[in-house]
Amino acid sequence: MSKTKIFADKNLKIGAIDQNIYGSFLEHLGRAVYEGIYEPGHPAADKDGFREDVIALIRELGVPLVRYPGGNFVSGYDWKDGIGKKSERKARLDLAWASVEPNEFGTDEFMKWCKKAGIEPMLAVNMGTGTPKDALELFEYVNHPSGTYYSDLRRKNASEKPYGVKYWCIGNEMDGPWQICGLDADSYGKKALQTMRMLRWADAKKADEEGAVKFVVCGSCHAQMPTYPEWDRVVLEHTYEETNYISMHQYYQYKPSSKDPLEDFLGSAHNMSEFIDTVRSTINYVRAKNRSSHKVYISFDEWNIWSQDAPRTEPNWVKAPHILEDQYTFRDMLVFGGMLNALLNHADVVKAACLAQLVNVIAPIMTKKGGGAIRQTTFYPFRYASRYGRGETVRSITTSGTFGSMYGDAKLIDEAVTHNPETREVCVFLCNYSQKAEPVELELRSFGDLSCKEHIVIANNDLDACNTFEHPDSVLPEQREPVPVIGGSTAEVTLAPMSWTFLRFSY
Ligand code: AHR
Repeated sequence: MSKTKIFADKNLKIGAIDQNIYGSFLEHLGRAVYEGIYEPGHPAADKDGFREDVIALIRELGVPLVRYPGGNFVSGYDWKDGIGKKSERKARLDLAWASVEPNEFGTDEFMKWCKKAGIEPMLAVNMGTGTPKDALELFEYVNHPSGTYYSDLRRKNASEKPYGVKYWCIGNEMDGPWQICGLDADSYGKKALQTMRMLRWADAKKADEEGAVKFVVCGSCHAQMPTYPEWDRVVLEHTYEETNYISMHQYYQYKPSSKDPLEDFLGSAHNMSEFIDTVRSTINYVRAKNRSSHKVYISFDEWNIWSQDAPRTEPNWVKAPHILEDQYTFRDMLVFGGMLNALLNHADVVKAACLAQLVNVIAPIMTKKGGGAIRQTTFYPFRYASRYGRGETVRSITTSGTFGSMYGDAKLIDEAVTHNPETREVCVFLCNYSQKAEPVELELRSFGDLSCKEHIVIANNDLDACNTFEHPDSVLPEQREPVPVIGGSTAEVTLAPMSWTFLRFSY
C-alpha cells in the first residue's frame, strides 16, 4: 500500500476564509419557508410561527448568512405582495415552481426571523419581471431610515429602524432559459448596472467605501451552459466597477446511466475547482482591461448535490408542495465534502457561498409538518467545516493518486488544510474516493509542536445509506482515537475506504 504524503506550510497562505462562505439559501419553493422555517401552530413554533427546533439545527449547522427569497422564484416575485396586514395579502401564481404563493411570509417576516436566528440577510431583487425602480423601492423600504413613502411604510408595518441589509443579489440566473424574463448577457449587464447605480445613490456610498452595501451580479448558472464563460465576461465588462461579487451556481448529480457513474460523480469537486479558476481568470481579465484597482470576488451562492431527474409527485398549483425533497446518501456526502474543500481551497477569491438550500428543499435539514426535524448526511461535513474551517486556508501539496472521470483526472484523496492563528489550530479535511483503505502522512512541520485534538470519520459500507425520519442516525460522524503526531509535526492516519475525515490539531 503506497502512502499519500500531504505537505502544508503556514507561510503559504491561499487566503483568509470569509465566514460568509458558510452561508445558505432559502427560497419560496416547496416546503422551505412554509412547513420549513415557518409553521404557525407547530408545537415548537414561537408566537411569530418560527420553528425553534429548526432554528436550533441551523445554529448547530453554523450558518452565518442566508440568501432570500430566490432563486427562480424571485424573477416573478413582487415584494409588495409580501408586506402589510397578513389578512390583506394576496395569493399569487408562482410560475417558477408551478405553485401557489400565499404571501403569508415576506420581507418583514424574513428580517425578523434572521434577527432571531442570528443570521445576516442577503436579499435578491427581481431582474425578471421586476424593474430597477422596483429594486430601488425595496431598498428604500428595507434600508432607508424614514421620511419617504416606503421607509415610513416599513415603520408602520414592522420596524421603526431600517434593517441595514448589506448584501444584495441583482437578480438570479438571468442566463437560464428557464428564468422568468431571462435576458442575454448584454441586456442583463446594462440592466444590472443601472439598478446598482440607483441603489448606490440611495446608499450614498461608493462601491469600495467602508460600510457600503455589496452587490452580486449574476454569473453563469452552471459550467455546462453554452453561454459560459462568455456570459461572465460580458456581464463583468458592463458592471465591474459597481459590483463586489459575481455569482457562481453549480449542482452535481449521481447519474446511474452515465458511463462510469461513480467516478463521474466523484469527479464533481474537481470540476467545481476548474469552474472557479475560470471565473477567477475572467474577473482578472476584465480588471486588467479596465485598468482597475477595484476588486471583485466570487459569491458561490448556490452549490449542492441535486437529483434533477427526480419525478414530481405533487399536483401543481398548491401551497408548499413536496418538491425537491432530495434524500442525501452517503455517496452524496462524499462529493459534498469535496465541494466544501473546493470552496476552502479558493478562499482568496470565493468570499461568499450559499449551500442551496437550507430546509426541506435540497437541504441538510428536513422537517415533518407538525412533527420533528432531522439532519441529512450532508449536514455533518458542513457543520465541521463551518465550526472549524476558520482563519485562513493554506496551500497543500499532495502525492495523491488520481482517477479518471468525465471531468478529467481527479485526486483520489482530496484535501483542504486550514489554519486559525487565533485558536492556534490546524484542521485537515480529507475525502477518500478510493475503494481501499489509504494511509496518509501529513507533514505539518511549520506549525510547531502539534497534538491531535479531534479525529472524526464518516464511513459506511452502503453508498446509498440515508438518514430518514424512521432511521435518522444511519450516517453519523464517529469520534476516533487522536492520530499519532511523530516528532510533533508528522501525523499519520489511515483513511477508511470511501470516507470523509476531519482532523483537528493544536499547537
Ligand atoms: O435551488 C433551486 C434552483 O436552482 C434555484 O431556484 C435556481 O436559482 C437554480 O436553478
